[in-house]
Amino acid sequence: MGQDAFMEPFSRTVGVFQCKIYLLLLVTGVCSGLKVVVPSYTVHGIRGQALYLPVHYGFHTPASDIQIIWLFERHHTMPKYLLGSVNKSVVPDLEYQHKFTMMPPNASLLINPLQFTDEGNYIVKVNIQGNGTLSASQKIQVTVDDPVTKPMVQIQPSSGAVEYVGNMTLTCLVEEGTRLAYRWLKNGRPVHTSSTNSFSPQNNILHIAPVTKEDIGNYSCLVKNPVSEMESDIIMPTIYYGPYGLRVNSDKGLKVGEVFTVDIGEAILFDCSADSYPPNTYSWIQRTDNTTYVIKHGPLLEVASEEVAQKTTDYVCCAYNNVTGRQDETHFTVIITSVGLEKLAQKGKSLSPLASITGISLFLIISMCLLLLWKKYQPYKVIKQKLEGRPETVYRKAGTFSGHEDALDDFGIYEFVAFPDASGVPRMPSRSVPASDGVSGQDLHNTIYEVIQHIPALQQDHPE
Ligand SMILES: *[C@@H]1O[C@H](CO)[C@@H](O)[C@H](O)[C@H]1NC(C)=O
Ligand SMILES: *[C@@H]1O[C@H](CO)[C@@H](O)[C@H](O)[C@H]1NC(C)=O
Ligand SMILES: *[C@@H]1O[C@H](CO)[C@@H](O)[C@H](O)[C@H]1NC(C)=O
Ligand SMILES: *[C@@H]1O[C@H](CO)[C@@H](O)[C@H](O)[C@H]1NC(C)=O
Ligand SMILES: *[C@@H]1O[C@H](CO)[C@@H](O)[C@H](O)[C@H]1NC(C)=O
Ligand SMILES: *[C@@H]1O[C@H](CO)[C@@H](O)[C@H](O)[C@H]1NC(C)=O
Ligand SMILES: *[C@@H]1O[C@H](CO)[C@@H](O)[C@H](O)[C@H]1NC(C)=O
Repeated sequence: MGQDAFMEPFSRTVGVFQCKIYLLLLVTGVCSGLKVVVPSYTVHGIRGQALYLPVHYGFHTPASDIQIIWLFERHHTMPKYLLGSVNKSVVPDLEYQHKFTMMPPNASLLINPLQFTDEGNYIVKVNIQGNGTLSASQKIQVTVDDPVTKPMVQIQPSSGAVEYVGNMTLTCLVEEGTRLAYRWLKNGRPVHTSSTNSFSPQNNILHIAPVTKEDIGNYSCLVKNPVSEMESDIIMPTIYYGPYGLRVNSDKGLKVGEVFTVDIGEAILFDCSADSYPPNTYSWIQRTDNTTYVIKHGPLLEVASEEVAQKTTDYVCCAYNNVTGRQDETHFTVIITSVGLEKLAQKGKSLSPLASITGISLFLIISMCLLLLWKKYQPYKVIKQKLEGRPETVYRKAGTFSGHEDALDDFGIYEFVAFPDASGVPRMPSRSVPASDGVSGQDLHNTIYEVIQHIPALQQDHPE
């Protein structure tokens, strides 16, 4: 019909629909020109308080009488008459006269106080008497609720649960409130059903079986009904877990993998840490020469390297959670080294310190073998030199030395006589070696001496 066009989209007027019925049934009905509008088809009221049901109506014809009638309909029973008015005079149903108020020509209804029994549909009918009769009506659904009181969350077991072993039940308790809808929040976000989370049919109980570390968080229960919404205080379940992510850090020293290289004379502090609840108990175990013993309890370990030079020691940090009963341990090696060796290790960064040391050791072994071989063949060289016809003084000297039968006593002497000769430079009777040799005999001597002194000691410290 034509007047549909000037109605607000939100205010579907039942009146129009009913006018059509009246038009069909009662041919006399004229519905054009009267519009009854309610802002909301459902109004939620709080028990014990006043509830106002707003109604607006408008018409464009001259009117002599304006009649307003309120009816109440509950659970599809017979509608009950509440009150009515013509012009400004109200005629209430005497049974409800103290409860319902209307101020005509204002058609809005005030219900005070609201009771649970007032829940139902309220029908307002407006009749305009003028050039014929205009009629329109509307229906408003009213719900009555008690507001929600602040919920409380109860956790069981309250003492906490062990990860992967224990279960946990969170129960949301509300003292008052009707039509309660429960929601669970974890860190402010809704908790959903999952392989470990389940809810009671009403949603007021959250069951977690089994608990894991991921279940730790700030839980709260949000309870809503049509007239209110309340959230519980945050509760943090106690979940025992760990240890996880065990690691050892040091304040100084060079760390390559599980090996710490420490300069001689430096004290190094190791810090062992792992994530766990309750906090772990830490113990330090030292392994030297096949013996293992606990050296300290607590997360920190200080190793003073002054007295132990060129030494390799294996340490184990053990973290134990005395509630979950689980433990973890990490092994690492501390190599106390001279600055020179550490620099060497730093130079060849691709090599681990152990590999470097092995390499150096190998080089030294080969060097020593070569040295022995060279010593072994040196007397023949001297003989050969004699046959080549040397100056007699030199020959005599060499001969004198080689004349001894005990070769061991002669080793040192041959070494220095022969060295310049091997390089093809004219021999000298003294121990001095020409600079053109590149490597002086004295330097070679020193290097070998130093390495021999240091490295075999290192090798000894590696039982494996
Ligand atoms: C209602 O008011 C109109 C004019 O304002 C009057 O003509 C009519 O008689 C009144 N009706 C009743 C029932 O008082
Ligand atoms: C009806 O009365 C209420 C107060 O009782 C007022 O707020 C409302 O604006 C009135 N409606 C009309 C259409 O006058
Ligand atoms: C009353 O209605 C009749 C027909 O329904 C119409 O002819 C007449 O003009 C109307 N009078 C007024 C005052 O609206
Ligand atoms: C935890 O719940 C699971 C399944 O719901 C059950 O099998 C298990 O016995 C429960 N554990 C404890 C400690 O109650
Ligand atoms: C949980 O709440 C505490 C304080 O109530 C806060 O310090 C902490 O950051 C919260 N945790 C999360 C994950 O929101
Ligand atoms: C180290 O211990 C193992 C087994 O406990 C043993 O077989 C081995 O002989 C020991 N080595 C040394 C050097 O004591
Ligand atoms: C677990 O260790 C802590 C110290 O870290 C101690 O206070 C607590 O009593 C221990 N609990 C048990 C059950 O042994």
